[in-house]
Amino acid sequence: MKRTVSLGGIALLLSLAVSCSPEKGSRVDELMSQMTLDEKIGQLNVLVAPHGDVTGSVMSRNVLEKVQGSAVGSLFGLHDKELLKEWQRVAVEESRLGIPLLFGADVIHGYRTTFPVPIGLAATWNPGLMEKTARIMASEASSDGIDWLYAPMVDISRDGRWGRCVEGAGEDPYLGSVYASAMVRGIQGNLEDADEILACFKHFALYGAVEAGRDYRETDMSLARMYNEYFPPYRAAVEAGAASVMTSFNDVNGMPSSGNRWLLEDLLRRQWGFDGVVVSDYNAVGELVRHGLGDLAEVSALALSAGTDMDMMSEGYVKTLRGQIEAGKIPQSYVDNACRRVLEAKEKLGLLDDPYRFFKRDTVCVYTPENRAAARRVASESFVLLKNSGVLPLSRGKRVALVGPMADAGAQYTGSWAGGAYPDCRSLKEAFDESGVKVNYARGSNLLEDSVLEQTACHSRRYVRDPRSEDALIAEAVRAARNSDVVVACVGEPAWMTGEGASRTSLDLPAVQIRLLDALVATGRPVVMLLFAGRSVILERQDAQMAAIMDVWYGGSEAADAIVDVLYGAVSPSGRLPMTFPRNVGQIPLYYNMKSGGRPCPIDSYKRFTSSYMDSPNSPLYPFGYGLGYTTFEYSDLRLSSDVLSRNGTVTATVTLKNTGSMPAYETVQLYIHDVKSSMTRPVKELKGFSKVRLEAGESRDVSFEITPDMLSWYYIDPMDPSSLSDPVPVVEPGEFDIMVGGSSESLDAVSLHVE
Ligand code: NOJ
Repeated sequence: MKRTVSLGGIALLLSLAVSCSPEKGSRVDELMSQMTLDEKIGQLNVLVAPHGDVTGSVMSRNVLEKVQGSAVGSLFGLHDKELLKEWQRVAVEESRLGIPLLFGADVIHGYRTTFPVPIGLAATWNPGLMEKTARIMASEASSDGIDWLYAPMVDISRDGRWGRCVEGAGEDPYLGSVYASAMVRGIQGNLEDADEILACFKHFALYGAVEAGRDYRETDMSLARMYNEYFPPYRAAVEAGAASVMTSFNDVNGMPSSGNRWLLEDLLRRQWGFDGVVVSDYNAVGELVRHGLGDLAEVSALALSAGTDMDMMSEGYVKTLRGQIEAGKIPQSYVDNACRRVLEAKEKLGLLDDPYRFFKRDTVCVYTPENRAAARRVASESFVLLKNSGVLPLSRGKRVALVGPMADAGAQYTGSWAGGAYPDCRSLKEAFDESGVKVNYARGSNLLEDSVLEQTACHSRRYVRDPRSEDALIAEAVRAARNSDVVVACVGEPAWMTGEGASRTSLDLPAVQIRLLDALVATGRPVVMLLFAGRSVILERQDAQMAAIMDVWYGGSEAADAIVDVLYGAVSPSGRLPMTFPRNVGQIPLYYNMKSGGRPCPIDSYKRFTSSYMDSPNSPLYPFGYGLGYTTFEYSDLRLSSDVLSRNGTVTATVTLKNTGSMPAYETVQLYIHDVKSSMTRPVKELKGFSKVRLEAGESRDVSFEITPDMLSWYYIDPMDPSSLSDPVPVVEPGEFDIMVGGSSESLDAVSLHVE
């Protein structure tokens, strides 16, 4: 072990702070001039922080030695302020130059105060709430010393089989871009205050398009699809100023992201102007060996040359880069550039001035009544009412049977990524009990069949199985239903069945829960099904059976109260689907912004020699943008300020919206366009704007959208035209466009616009 001068580092940093001009980069230059090659490579190394005292275990001592030896630039995954501070002290006081560490963490949808999972947050269609959520999670996490969030995940996904669609904003490039920028803004602010920290958008790139929805598989995609459909949210994150990005695990057209120079250097840095840090995903550099691209030394050189600045967990860089440089395989300038970017990130955060900057705030800002109230509001706006025969909102006088394995499983409500210590999530049963509404409760079933539960038990966070037989549990629920006027059935995927490494080929509810629902429906009582899930679930059977269905995702720490708010009508549901719900798994990938094809099917059933299925309609069960409320809205008189849009002009599209129901509610007015004739095929519709407006009962209002040529543009990329391949630029082609406005991607009024 190389023990180094105690306090030397602090002295150097202080002298730099005093003697250097505050000009950006000067301290970085100064540090760079003092650093050895090994110290520079050390800055590129990201390790998991041990959970325990810095000398308390073999792992801790191992990491301690590396931090003291300047072989670590960042630690992640620890949510303990005192321990993090101690690690910072070690870096600052016991390493030669005293360069502070970055502290990363997977704070995805909340720290202590937990918000709905990202797919639910996206379902709010409310950028203000997205940004607020990000602000609160950054503020809470930074008060524990965390200064780098591995969020937002902005991978487009059209495939519910991929468990990670829970972590993103769904299938749409526009909504995904709105989400990406709101989250980056919320996390980073201006990177000035001590609660404004680094965002790390991920996973670059195309991770959501892994083949067959199976995690970690390859993605193979045309450039046109990449630029037009999958890249916009990444680009939006860059434009919002994201300070870092994480590579993805998958192979992109034959080269995994972490070794993909085209993606990282050409696209991200050169074309998009990104100047932040690129960090690999967990062991993604090491996994290049399994991809078959070489041994650890070769793949480390490959990854660094491709533009991956930091190596998370494989330690390929610290173990091999010096040798690769000495052997002349890569120039040292690659290490210098990467190291400079890491130091610049530390400088942006103010760590070079004050390494303890993020340890000085009081943690009373965490899990406060205000933050929890915000989480409750966000949760209630995230719920998507998928069906309602009129049973909702519940009237207070009705006797309620509260049944189902999610009804009293609060720990599941945080979803698969909850940032900090898992807060106690009140379950729906507890919320009912406390609100004074007496319910007939029965679990009805365990979350999964016993045999499946056993297989996944290692992941089943705090889940306690009811030892009674399936039949006994169902019988009890049926009795509760019979003694009630209405049944609220809480079902869904346990949180551990979603997220990373949770791909599925069936998107049905677990079999034991389907049995329970069938038995409840057979009682003849109206059943309100609350769906806890983070992906598109196959619900054809339940859609036919239930009196109402509401997708409540995993709503976070305040989900239970938010559900009660919505069930009883204190809040009218206003979430809209950010992802198509297919009728069956065979339709996947199914998304609204598809192409027409040359043989579109004129009916929603089978017609030979048209694009249709023999055994399923083409249409989804619930389309993108869909969601009901407790009131109805009428759209009328869609009009344009002019039928013609000039190259530099603007046209306003206006629709009159009326709340025709009897309570105030939000409506999400959606704007779609269609390029009727184009030099290459374009989608049948594309979301280009939305506006969430609140109208009182009976109120009418005009809602307008400015249409600019930019909104009608797309990347023309033609393999026959090499000039379109290297630096694709958006084009607007003159001609007819349909301008469509309405309440979902399948309920739209249209007018025609001519672009000159
Ligand atoms: C792997 C995941 O893919 C990524 O999203 C996460 O940030 C890292 N692990 C670190 O935990």
